[in-house]
Amino acid sequence: MADTEMEYTYLGETGLEVSKLCLGCMNFGSGEPWMMNDAEASVEVIHEALDLGINFLDTANVYSRGESEEIVGRAIEGRNRDRLAVASKVRFPMGEGPNESGLSRKHIIDQVHASLDRLGLEYLDLYQIHRWDENVPIEETLSALDHLVEEGLVRYLGASTMAAWKFSKALYTADIEDYERFTCMQPEYNAVDRHEEANLLPLCADQGIGVIPWSPLAGGFLTGKYERDEDPEEGRAAGDDYTQERFREENWEALDAIRAVADGKDATPAQVSLAWLLHKDVVDSPIIGPRSTDHLEENVAAVSVSLTDEEMERIEAPITPRWPGIGKD
Ligand SMILES: NC(=O)c1ccc[n+]([C@@H]2O[C@H](COP(=O)([O-])OP(=O)(O)OC[C@H]3O[C@@H](n4cnc5c(N)ncnc54)[C@H](OP(=O)(O)O)[C@@H]3O)[C@@H](O)[C@H]2O)c1
Repeated sequence: MADTEMEYTYLGETGLEVSKLCLGCMNFGSGEPWMMNDAEASVEVIHEALDLGINFLDTANVYSRGESEEIVGRAIEGRNRDRLAVASKVRFPMGEGPNESGLSRKHIIDQVHASLDRLGLEYLDLYQIHRWDENVPIEETLSALDHLVEEGLVRYLGASTMAAWKFSKALYTADIEDYERFTCMQPEYNAVDRHEEANLLPLCADQGIGVIPWSPLAGGFLTGKYERDEDPEEGRAAGDDYTQERFREENWEALDAIRAVADGKDATPAQVSLAWLLHKDVVDSPIIGPRSTDHLEENVAAVSVSLTDEEMERIEAPITPRWPGIGKD
């Protein structure tokens, strides 16, 4: 597995070179049973990811309220900064009081400095709005983000998970007002959660927006570690509703197809699921969420798994993408 050669791509239409897998850093913190709850082991996973050629790391201020950013900061200290693409996010609450969440000019500017302090960095490569904020005009958010780029605190802007009409409004507002444009979208997207094929993905393809899918293994469902009609006793699904919500007949049928394809090529279901995403033209870099170095090594090897058109179609046949998806708002 360690022989897998990491590949790189450009993020959207930017000149930023990122590895074809991004390391998700949401697990690197504490407070929830599905997290690693072990800073040393988290640093070890990050170091191995860097050694395997991953140069793209995705964290957020809200992940364990700053703990994830601190762990990433520890892990990348002393590494070659020029090679790294470090992404963080802003929007979700960092406290319970006024001005401690959202996309106001005040909160964005406060939070970028807080994130940089925790990460020990002078700039972020990618700064993402974690969701839309209904309470703040998009012009205010865009002008604050534009200011961060002008100041050199942030290199590129991204967004995550929203109605396509809102993202479209953000893009044309930036064009009209001459603000820095979002270059990248982070949607939920995997072989069983395909609702964004009916929402954001056609817009991203048309507008040259890079796509970096979150939960590429549907919270572990697509690893094949769970079985129909069996209550999960361990793994994220044992304690987390998100993964359990994947337990639906059409998803099991997609997983059956993934397992069959995997058996035919000496690969695992997780690798075939990640390869399915990597074969989508609109996708730049799925954000993997390993909880151990074993997960990481298995997932990284997906970069060298090839799928035929027939195998892609077989995996897709059980599900018709609709937006919003089941259980989404
Ligand atoms: N923008 C957003 O709103 C948003 C939302 C969610 C996530 N994200 C980003 O996306 C990243 C990835 O999300 P995710 O953690 O949900 O990804 P995921 O890959 O769908 O699920 C990760 C979980 O699957 C299991 N797993 C992963 N690889 C495995 C393997 N090879 N074998 C067995 N089990 C394996 C682990 O859980 P267990 O070992 O506990 O079963 C792991 O915690 C996050 O770190 C974050 O950066 C963004």
